[in-house]
Amino acid sequence: MTKKLYHGAAYYPELWTEEAIEQDIKLMLEAGINVARIGEFAWSTMEKEEGNIDLTFFANMIKRLNEHGIETVMCTPTPTPPIWLTHNHPERMHVDQEGNVMVHGSRQQICTNNPVFREKSAIITEEIAKAVGHFPEVIAWQLDNEFKCHVSECYCETCKSLWHQWLEEKYGTIDQLNEAWGTDIWSQYYHRFDQIPQPKKAPFLHNSSLRTMYQLFSFEKIAEFADEQAAIIRKYSSAPITHNSTTFFHVDNERIFENLDFASFDTYAEKSNFASYLFNNDLWRNLKKDRDYWIMETSPSHAASLESHSAPHPNGYLKAEAVAAYALGAEAFCYWLWRQQRSGCEQPHGSVISAWGKPTIGFENVQEVEAARKEIESIMLSTRPAQAEVAITYSDISRAFFITEPHRGLDYRSLMINFYERVLSNGYHRDLIPEHSNLEGYKLLFTPFLHHVSSEYLDMATAFVEDGGVWVVGPLTGGRTENHTIHTDAALGAIEEIAGVETLYTYPMDGTESVGEFMNTEAPLSLWSAVFNPKEAKAVGVIKEGISIGDAFITEHKRGQGKIVMLGSLPEGEAGDLLVSELLNHYAQEANVQLHTDVTKGTIVAPRHNDEEDVWVMINMDGKGGSVTLPTTGTDALTGANLSKGIIEIGPFEHKIVRFQKNL
Ligand code: GAL
Repeated sequence: MTKKLYHGAAYYPELWTEEAIEQDIKLMLEAGINVARIGEFAWSTMEKEEGNIDLTFFANMIKRLNEHGIETVMCTPTPTPPIWLTHNHPERMHVDQEGNVMVHGSRQQICTNNPVFREKSAIITEEIAKAVGHFPEVIAWQLDNEFKCHVSECYCETCKSLWHQWLEEKYGTIDQLNEAWGTDIWSQYYHRFDQIPQPKKAPFLHNSSLRTMYQLFSFEKIAEFADEQAAIIRKYSSAPITHNSTTFFHVDNERIFENLDFASFDTYAEKSNFASYLFNNDLWRNLKKDRDYWIMETSPSHAASLESHSAPHPNGYLKAEAVAAYALGAEAFCYWLWRQQRSGCEQPHGSVISAWGKPTIGFENVQEVEAARKEIESIMLSTRPAQAEVAITYSDISRAFFITEPHRGLDYRSLMINFYERVLSNGYHRDLIPEHSNLEGYKLLFTPFLHHVSSEYLDMATAFVEDGGVWVVGPLTGGRTENHTIHTDAALGAIEEIAGVETLYTYPMDGTESVGEFMNTEAPLSLWSAVFNPKEAKAVGVIKEGISIGDAFITEHKRGQGKIVMLGSLPEGEAGDLLVSELLNHYAQEANVQLHTDVTKGTIVAPRHNDEEDVWVMINMDGKGGSVTLPTTGTDALTGANLSKGIIEIGPFEHKIVRFQKNL
């Protein structure tokens, strides 16, 4: 596990003069940068003409940075193929859903499934790995950059034939596909796999199965590219490999990281969106459990391109972000980018120093991060993040289902962040866990917005309940088959029997003025909902107003040592926040959840521990200051002062760390 907290920046020395590089290194030391990420996007510098690869500049740079105590994350340059690979080759380029063929320029312009691209990528990656893979200064690798951030599925001819192969492997026979997709509808019946279109522009919406499966096909192909590249690097290097991703891109992160060594993400959330920032930390911590995650990119002040910009962070926020990340389990906090670009399309982007070599508006904030890093490092290295007892399942596959079927503009990510925020603001330490994570250590599991619940997931969650867990299912969970069709045995398929309910109807509650009540709290209900006949379960939430008065929207059912709670609808607004808090607190108590802190909204507690002590890192994220109630006496880990039980104030963007002796 983490032996050092890294503080890093993306660095593109190939773009600068010798004089600028000298200045960069000097300023990196002043800013407290101890790791640089290099090589990303530099394919045309490394291989100006096809086959003529020269990596001396990068090899020397790694050594040179290290002479100043700066370690390196080496990147593969495949997001930006050089002109010799693309010129006069429209067949190699990415094609979007409208059929537009990308031209050279920008990045991600080539089809990552194109065999020539794959071959040339394998060659350049192998040469880089050979040249620097054995350097002890290369502490990690990053593959490519943000797979599928600008593009989604590709619709070129190469992808078309791979799509047909993928379908054949998945379905075996065309009849099975026809049956699974229900293709008699609108005369979509296929005779052969090679007749199946890519879901390009059509007069109206495509069959849901076609549209979702094309996304899943694309997820698999980009992950295969990552697998292939990682395998090449491993021939020459034992340094761990990652990729920098986000939950915005057209990838299945769980699958991307399956064969990589550690997880990392990029984030450009503004302060007002700090919940989204925390959401990412709580998710990425769980993508690869055996190694700590990295924040690979964040701006020291603002994100920008030629066409847009975000608001610069208020002073102090960057430090709050960094402390929160380290406390929640990150090994590194890194910036994009070190020196402002002088050309390209991102010149206005926030950086640590300007194109003319002077500190930017973010520089002092970066120095503050460094001071905080040094201050907390020994505490972070001697403790580990505490095991969360509350888990929320996150699924990029479900995100794909929502892209196919957004109802009325629903976005999976926003739904999930809002749901997460309700757990966060109630003071529960929580994990967002990928769909296939095991459920060990958890007591309360939420599965919202998971259109398709696989039989493996259902088995795992049922076993979790039988062992004493409480599983809250919904809203919008279980209503679709794996092929993105409707169940024909029961509205929510196999879940219903396990939950002891029968779904009476599913319909959109928006616009019906529906109100539900749970434990004497009433709230408006929203989203496409399921209402239940409780059968063996108990109706604990009932609809009071709307078009199905008296039906249940929340039920609970004992099974083994635990309970299954069906949450058929999403309570909305402030009353909805209250109702969900009631539900959360009630079932957290039933599940015996202990890691619950009394903390004001906008401030967080990141619990950590070792054998002797529990440590709470308390951070104010909203800049308004807040407070935390200490359940017992403790010691201020930063000043050594004794702290009494009761309320402790945390100033705007401030952090405090308290140590509690464990009851031995
Ligand atoms: C990221 C990307 C960087 C840079 C940055 C700007 O998405 O990885 O290369 O473009 O955004 O915010």
